[in-house]
Amino acid sequence: MPRPASRVEKIPPYLFARIDKKKEEARKRGIDLVDFSIGDPDLPTPAHIVERMKEATENPRNHQYPSYEGMPAFRKAVAEWYARRFGVRLDPDREVVALIGSKEGIAHLPWVYLDEGDVALIPSPGYPVYRITTLLAGGTPYILPLREERAFRPDLDNIPEEARRKAKICFINYPNNPTGAHGDDGLYERAVRLGRENDILICHDAAYSEVTYDGHKARSILEFDKEKRHSLSKTYCMTGWRIGFAVGNSEAVQNLGKLKTNIDSGVFQAIQEAGIEALTGSQESVEAMKTVFARRRDLVVEGLASIGIKVPKPLGTFYIWAHVPAGYTSAEFAEALIERIGVVVTPGAGFGDEGEGYFRISITTPEPRIREGMGRLKELRL
Ligand SMILES: Cc1ncc(COP(=O)(O)O)c(C=O)c1O
Repeated sequence: MPRPASRVEKIPPYLFARIDKKKEEARKRGIDLVDFSIGDPDLPTPAHIVERMKEATENPRNHQYPSYEGMPAFRKAVAEWYARRFGVRLDPDREVVALIGSKEGIAHLPWVYLDEGDVALIPSPGYPVYRITTLLAGGTPYILPLREERAFRPDLDNIPEEARRKAKICFINYPNNPTGAHGDDGLYERAVRLGRENDILICHDAAYSEVTYDGHKARSILEFDKEKRHSLSKTYCMTGWRIGFAVGNSEAVQNLGKLKTNIDSGVFQAIQEAGIEALTGSQESVEAMKTVFARRRDLVVEGLASIGIKVPKPLGTFYIWAHVPAGYTSAEFAEALIERIGVVVTPGAGFGDEGEGYFRISITTPEPRIREGMGRLKELRL
């Protein structure tokens, strides 16, 4: 076999591979694992969305190639939802493009904007796709550390001049995976200023904008200025469906569309119809989901407190980001939990160097399993 291209060889080893191996071994030994490592909502997609999909699959028109940039009706539904939700007006023809899940848009954006040596500003800890696809595209990641003392928000005012000059894109992600942190107006204002003054495309990954608790309403950077992407996965429990959208600056949206046209052929139209139903139909399921997740979040935060790990309650996302007890690296702690009590958490280092010292618990697991997992943690002598 020929060697793969250097860009593929450059992909760093999968940091969760060891954990996966430990999980596999534990399962083989018959251990009942409580798995807190997966950020995938366990609640089903709401029935009205599934119904619409069923009907749409009957229509032969939907069996052909979809329109690349998304059906006009889907893009209109996105623009209307955006106006209702954020008070931001978008032109559905020029400022909205359908994505095969937001991951697809995130992964392609560095290919649209980065030449060899160009920089992408990337949060750490962060969703790993920002960094890996920057490397694949030949770009250079410049890490924006997210530290607890700054409420896990990047220090956008103190990026060195050289990094700002070379940067063409900057990823920000609030509500944030993995820290559960939320953005504030100051952050968005600073991000917009950074983009304007240095000619940098600010990409707000708002996959969790609707997964918020205690009355918190996440904002969109488009309320402050003009670039953005979005996912339907988390809001409507549609991770398996692969649909999302990017909206914002028409030039950026068109450029992304241009690249995509040459790589994928759009989203299955029946899924787009289901997406229209999700955005325009009843939003009761979103409220119900938030109630379920808020209760689970409380259980985990209280469970951790009872073993001496104190974490503030996050106002959004499915994630609790907590300190690893003294004496362990994040990977060692995750491995110890699997071996000793059959509980799986994600080691923070998997989200970048700045994630070392932390672990992530995902609450996409039914309440009885969360209680079981928390009970086992209490038995563990740390
Ligand atoms: C921060 C963040 N952005 C984007 C995604 C991708 O979501 P989608 O299912 O829309 O591709 C995820 C999924 O875990 C995520 O955590």
